[in-house]
Amino acid sequence: ATQAKVEVLGQQFPTDDFTNIKPAILRKVSAQLHLKHAHPLNTLRKLIESAYPDFTHAATISPLVTPFKNFDELSFPLDHPGRAKTDSYYVNRDMMLRTHTSAHEVEMFRKGETKWLLTADVYRRDEIDASHYPIFHQVEGAQIFTADAAGMREVEADNERLAGILASAHIAIEDTPHVSPANPVQPEHDPVFAELVAKNLKLSLNNLMLTLFGGVQGISKENPLRVRWIESYFPFTSPSFEVEVYFQDEWLEILGCGVVIQATLNTAGVPNKIGWAFGLGLERIAMVLFSIPDIRMFWSEDERFLSQFEDGKITSFKPYSKYPSCFKDVSFWVSQGNTLHENDICDLVRDVAGDLVEDVKRIDHFVHPKTQRTSLCYRIHYRSMDSSLSNEEVNVIQDQVISRLQEHFDVEIR
Ligand code: PHE
Repeated sequence: ATQAKVEVLGQQFPTDDFTNIKPAILRKVSAQLHLKHAHPLNTLRKLIESAYPDFTHAATISPLVTPFKNFDELSFPLDHPGRAKTDSYYVNRDMMLRTHTSAHEVEMFRKGETKWLLTADVYRRDEIDASHYPIFHQVEGAQIFTADAAGMREVEADNERLAGILASAHIAIEDTPHVSPANPVQPEHDPVFAELVAKNLKLSLNNLMLTLFGGVQGISKENPLRVRWIESYFPFTSPSFEVEVYFQDEWLEILGCGVVIQATLNTAGVPNKIGWAFGLGLERIAMVLFSIPDIRMFWSEDERFLSQFEDGKITSFKPYSKYPSCFKDVSFWVSQGNTLHENDICDLVRDVAGDLVEDVKRIDHFVHPKTQRTSLCYRIHYRSMDSSLSNEEVNVIQDQVISRLQEHFDVEIR
């Protein structure tokens, strides 16, 4: 028999028991919204790049990576949940769609890059609603220094420069210690070096937050930009942090970052360096900066969306009237031991309905006391961005959802 193949970005791959990429995703892997003229994600990318003018700016690296590169090279433990088929998109056991831009850290450092930004599309299997979409975009940034006295003088000079800019800006920072027992210096590092680098990371990112949010918010001495640092954990940084910004009456999670785990730099062939890295998601920031209410809109081809944006400018999106939505419920029995995962259901719905699905929610769940079978009910909201859906059209889609559920997941429709 001929081996089944899947084509991704013009390349053929054999499929196996890990293959879970669906046409709905495949159709979008070449979109590169972050490079599309006047697209909000492109404007946001360029704004971030403008805060790092002397860094290398990469933005066209293929999303196909080995699981080794996405996870192992970054010291992810073997049992990390991100590796599961239910959480990530696999072409097959040996190739996947990157789940984060950190997958390219080793490659960038190995090329000899010492300060760089990398913008790219990333892929995660997830629930479906107005703020979750299986494809989104991240910017990774990193800077490494030589781990000796001369390198540290460079860090100190940069810290002085950055602190100078911040001193005259309207910004209120809730800081953490640069290191703490729960968020330690790596054993390989000189603690003085690690603290200087962590400080450089924080100063640099506080300035980035000013670039991103200082302009649109109308900050002043009385009403400064509020930035909050929180200790965090990532397998590939220590110490690690998250940054939140207070924007429109809410704390927004903006990014994760930290001092790069030395194993990463050793693997990249630059063991004498020490440095930091950060990663931020573009969509959620773009949603608040451009007032875009639904994450699916970034994928819209509708002129009423696209024509509202001007290249390089942050402007407020004016919602056009939405077409009406329509929901359908599906209830089914799942026998004991069935491993059906909520992400499987979301993926299946998205594969059948494409961007016509707005939201999938479980609205009922109970276990039959005698048979021990589980009954589940999901409510699927359908809405088109650019036409009014008829009940007949939606029924055709819903029937397909139901028959695929029966075919692929061994469930009994109620
Ligand atoms: N890759 C991490 C994520 O996707 C973010 C991160 C990047 C954290 C670099 C630390 C350093 O959540």
